[in-house]
Amino acid sequence: MNRHQARNAGGRRWSSAPQGHKGRRWQRCASAAGLLLILLCLPAGCAREGGGWLGGWRHAPKGEVAAPSAELAARTLYLQTLDLSFCDQQWGSAQAGCSVEKNPLTLQGKVHEHGVGTHAYSALIVDLKGAAERFQAVVGVDDESADKGSVVFAVVVDGEEVVRTDVLRGGGEPQEINVDLAGARQLILTVEDGGDGIDHDHADWANARLVLVPGAVERPLATRLAAERMPLIASGTPRAPALHAPRVTGATPGRPFLFRIPATGEAPLRFEAANLPPDLTLDSDTGIITGTLAAEGTTAVPITVTSPCGTAGSTLTIVGGHRALAQTPPMGWNSWNVWGTAVDDAKVRAAADYMVSSGLASHGYQYINIDDAWEGQRDAEGRIQTNEKFPDMKALADYVHSKGLKLGIYSSPGPKTCADYEASYQHEQLDANTYAEWGIDLLKYDWCSYEKIAADHSLEELRKPYLVMREALDNCGRDIVYSLCQYGMGNVWEWGATVGGNYWRTTGDIWDSWSSMAGIGFGQNGHEVHAGPGHWNDPDMLVVGQVGWGPELHATRLTPDEQITHITLWSLLAAPLLIGCDLSQLDDFTLAVLTNTEVLEVNQDPLGKAAGRVAGNGRTEVWARPLADGALAVGLFNRGVQETTVTAEWEDLGIKGCQAVRDLWRRRDIGHYDNAYTAHVPPHGAMLLTLRAASTQPGSAETTTP
Ligand code: GLA
Repeated sequence: MNRHQARNAGGRRWSSAPQGHKGRRWQRCASAAGLLLILLCLPAGCAREGGGWLGGWRHAPKGEVAAPSAELAARTLYLQTLDLSFCDQQWGSAQAGCSVEKNPLTLQGKVHEHGVGTHAYSALIVDLKGAAERFQAVVGVDDESADKGSVVFAVVVDGEEVVRTDVLRGGGEPQEINVDLAGARQLILTVEDGGDGIDHDHADWANARLVLVPGAVERPLATRLAAERMPLIASGTPRAPALHAPRVTGATPGRPFLFRIPATGEAPLRFEAANLPPDLTLDSDTGIITGTLAAEGTTAVPITVTSPCGTAGSTLTIVGGHRALAQTPPMGWNSWNVWGTAVDDAKVRAAADYMVSSGLASHGYQYINIDDAWEGQRDAEGRIQTNEKFPDMKALADYVHSKGLKLGIYSSPGPKTCADYEASYQHEQLDANTYAEWGIDLLKYDWCSYEKIAADHSLEELRKPYLVMREALDNCGRDIVYSLCQYGMGNVWEWGATVGGNYWRTTGDIWDSWSSMAGIGFGQNGHEVHAGPGHWNDPDMLVVGQVGWGPELHATRLTPDEQITHITLWSLLAAPLLIGCDLSQLDDFTLAVLTNTEVLEVNQDPLGKAAGRVAGNGRTEVWARPLADGALAVGLFNRGVQETTVTAEWEDLGIKGCQAVRDLWRRRDIGHYDNAYTAHVPPHGAMLLTLRAASTQPGSAETTTP
C-alpha cells in the first residue's frame, strides 16, 4: 500500500455510489459569461442545501451536489478553472463546465454544474505546488454518448496510481473519486478507453475540484510534462569524412540542375565523382554539382570525399526524367513557423548562411522556403511584384544557389493568400514563368481564398486549381517542386499524386504542443500506402528550436522527449523535413535532433516506403517501415504520461528469427533478439531502431539477450 492509499485507507479509495436520477437535459452548456457568474457566485454560498463529501462537506443525499461550508468553499478550486489547453486529448478538446461536445455535463440524467468534459485518451497534469489536500470528482461516460462508450479513469499522484476505476460504460453508474493529496506535488488525471477503441468515449470529471490547504499561498496549475529529462542521444560530427542522404536526386533533362553533396568531416573536404552524366560539373571543393542533364535515364555516380582523416565513398543516383523531382522527401527550412509574416530578405539570407555554417546542409537539408508574406502588387502587365521586404528576388535566389541550396516560394490558387497577400488566381502561367525567371525551385500552393472560388468540395473542384498550376509549372521551363497545401481536404493523399503534387499537406497547421504534434503525427496511420518517391504525405513543418510565427520567438513547447517523438515519427512517415525555427539560435540539443545521420537515413531511404502502425496497446504504439537495404526501421512510442515498456513483436512486424537491433538515436548496437524486443520508453518519448536479420550482419559481435 503506498502512502496515498494509506491515507485513503479506512474507507474506499473511491466509491461507486449511484449518482442521481434520470432527468431531462434542460441546461445548455454554460457560456463564458455564465460560467464566470457561477464561479463568482459559488463560494459566496449558491450551493444547495445539504452536505455530503467526506472531510468537511455538508451532508447531501448520494449523488447530489455537495455544499461546502463557507470556509471550505473558499478553499475549493474547481478543475475547470485550470488552463485546460494543457490537457492532452485524442479527440476534441477538454471543456470547462461542459461535456466534450459542449453539452451540460450529464451522468445518468443528472446535470453537474461544474467539471471537465474530456474524451479518451486524455491526460491532464496538475502541478499542485503542495497547495492541495484533496481531489474529488464524480466520473463517468456523459449521457451524450447514450449507451455507447467505455472508459477507465485513473488518478496518479506523484508517480503512483492511486485510483483506477472499473470500465465505466455509457448509461452506466458513475463513480466517486476522493483522493488525499496532502503534501503531494503532482496530480495526473487520465482517461483511457475501455478496451474497445475510443469511439463515443465522452468522459466527464464532474464536480472535479481540488480542496486547497488552509492558507495556501500558491495555487495549483495545469502544466505540460516536465521538460527536465534530457534523452540520451548521440551528438556531434565525427572528424572522419562521411557522405549522407539524400543519395538520390532527380531533374528534368534540359533544365538547370543543382545538387549539393551532403558530407561531413574535418575540413578541407575534397569531392570526386565518377561517371557523372555529361553536361554536369562537380566543384571538387564545395561538392556542388551544377549543369544540365542531357538525357533521361538513371545514372549511378560513385562519389568519394577525402579529408585529412581519410576517404569515404558512396553512390549518388541521378534520375533524369519528366517530373523526376523529390525522389526523397524534401529537407530544408521554411519561414512560416518561425517568422510568420515578419519574414524578409535578410532573414532568408541568414537562414541560408546558417544552413551551411551549422552543418545542416552537410546533413542533406537543401531547401530555403519563403512562405507567405513576400508578395507585392501586380504591375500593369499583371506580373507579380515582391513587396518592400524583398527588394530583389532574383538576387536572393542567386545568393541561395551560390551555396548549393534551393529557394522555395509560396502562393495560393485563390485571389489572396492565407495572410491576405496577392495570390495566383487567373495569373497562374504568368506567376510560374516569373518564379522560373527568378530561379525558384519549389512552390507551396496553399488553398486559402480559393475556398470562395470553388463551387464545393467535390473531388473535381478540389483537384481543379492544382491541375491548373501543374500545367503552368510544366510549361515554365524550370524544375519546381510542387507542394500542395489544402489541409487534407477530400483525402488529398489519395489523389495528390494524380495532380502532379510532389507532396501534400495531410492536416491543418501544426503547433508546438504535444497534442498538436502527436495528434497529427500519430493520425497519419493508413496514409503510408500513398507515399513514394516523387510524392509524399506532408504532416506539416517541424516545431523544434526557437519558433514563434514571428516576430517574437520562443523555445518550442515540446519537451526534449516529445521532440524525439516528433522527428522519429516524421522520419518513419517519410515526411518532408522542413525546419521551422530560427537557424541562428540552434542549441546543441536541437542540432543533434536535426542532424542524427542514422535517423535521417530512415527519412531519406531511397525505397520510399512510409511507415504505418503495426501494433498498439493502450498508450504504446509500434510503427515500422522497410528500408532499401532489407532492414526494418521500427519506432517504439509511449504516448502516455508515465514511463512504460514498449515491445516490438516479430510477429507484428512480419519477421522471424534472430535480429540485430540497433538504437539509431544513440547510434549503437543493442544486441541480438529472437521473437521480440522490449524497451523502457519515457513519457511522450520514442525509440527508433533498425532490425536486421542477423545473418545479414556477419561479424557483429553483439550477444543475444532475452
Ligand atoms: C496556412 C498554411 C500555413 C502557412 C500559412 C501562411 O495557414 O497552412 O502552413 O503557409 O497559411 O499564411
